[in-house]
Amino acid sequence: MRYAHIIGWGKYAPERVLTNADLEKMVETTDEWIRSRTGIRERHVAANPKDTTATLAVRAARDALNMAGVHPAQIDLIIVSTSSPEHIFPATACLVQDALGASKAGAFDLSAACSGFVYALSMAHASIASGNADYVLVLGSETLSRITDWKDRNTCVLFGDGAGALLLRASEQPGGVLSTVLGSDGSGGDLLILPAGGSRFPTTPETLSQGMHYIKMDGREVFRFATRVMAKATQEVIAKAGLRLDDVNLVIPHQANERIINSSMSALKLPPDKVFVNLDRYGNTSTASIPIALCEAVETGRVRPNDTLVFVGFGAGLTWAAAAVKWGVPPPPPKPPSWWRRFRLATQSPWATLRSWALRWGRRIYALIPGYSGESPYLPIGRTKETPPPVAPRPSPPPEEPPADGAGAPS
Ligand code: ACO
Repeated sequence: MRYAHIIGWGKYAPERVLTNADLEKMVETTDEWIRSRTGIRERHVAANPKDTTATLAVRAARDALNMAGVHPAQIDLIIVSTSSPEHIFPATACLVQDALGASKAGAFDLSAACSGFVYALSMAHASIASGNADYVLVLGSETLSRITDWKDRNTCVLFGDGAGALLLRASEQPGGVLSTVLGSDGSGGDLLILPAGGSRFPTTPETLSQGMHYIKMDGREVFRFATRVMAKATQEVIAKAGLRLDDVNLVIPHQANERIINSSMSALKLPPDKVFVNLDRYGNTSTASIPIALCEAVETGRVRPNDTLVFVGFGAGLTWAAAAVKWGVPPPPPKPPSWWRRFRLATQSPWATLRSWALRWGRRIYALIPGYSGESPYLPIGRTKETPPPVAPRPSPPPEEPPADGAGAPS
């Protein structure tokens, strides 16, 4: 049996803090309204254009890797959950892979809005349990400030930017991720949506003038949905792990709104000391909220070895997800790391930059060689230089007989 243990964690939030008082100067709102309706006092925003979803994720990832003493080259898979990706493509996960120098990792983005981090954790668990991966880096990263309409008081008071990372390792020691529950209801897709910029509404001057590239939300409906699914998903994931509610030491819910958390957790009759809340200082960082909260819970001593934790989230889609986790870092590898390994860990950041630079220049230089065919002999990681065998042509299907009554024929 293979278990997926969390062996490293990290978080990062941009420096600039935007308080409710700052928002009072931007839209018609009050600190009192925001605090009483949401519990939020302040949030971090990526005011520096150099701070992006990928750079935030890389900073959180480096902390997680350093904590675990794992070199980026050991990572098998990187999953970035985000609703504010760097681009539609390439995946933000690939940019993170390059910045870390995770030379043998597969990388992809996962889109399940605020539930995304728990979805990604579930995928990481499955990859490890099936034997497909030994080390998986799971990230939740958002720069929602870039897709927020700062003139819309219904949404701009809610969101914040940040990133959180967990590193998972395969182990035969029971523990780690015990169970996960994933759910969706696409009939509510229009309740929380970024309408333009995809294939339905490609970006045009009209979509821009109508502000369709900003978050749109029906807050009341999302609120109703959230209070319904949070308690249900928590109960389901605990039952799936073969546990009872009393066995749970701490629930780390998606940090969207204090009232949603209070209402769903009191429906479960969970006392407040079993629920972790830090949204007052971060706002709703969407998919990053659970890993950021987990890091703070560990830092403040709210999580101890052998504790049973539940992560539970909801979000656009509509989606919801929960995970039950047995906290406890498995014993480190028996041998202390060699000087070479310690040196490689200490120099991973400049090495990744150098590697990325060499790969880019290698590509450019080979493109200048006369007769270059696209098959580069330099470092095509994971690619073979051999010519692939010719693909056998597919037999053409027999021509279709038109139906006797003429039904289906184009009119
Ligand atoms: N300041 C002052 N007044 C405001 C503000 C504001 N920032 N925003 C809205 N209002 C007004 C509204 O216009 C409304 O006025 P009206 O009655 O004259 O129309 C009034 O306040 C009350 O609005 P409600 O919608 O009833 O307020 P509610 O108590 O439901 O709180 C809120 C609104 C905070 C948005 C709540 O509905 C909520 O948290 N919903 C869930 C949102 C959420 O969690 N979204 C993220 C999901 S996760 C993801 O995938 C990103």
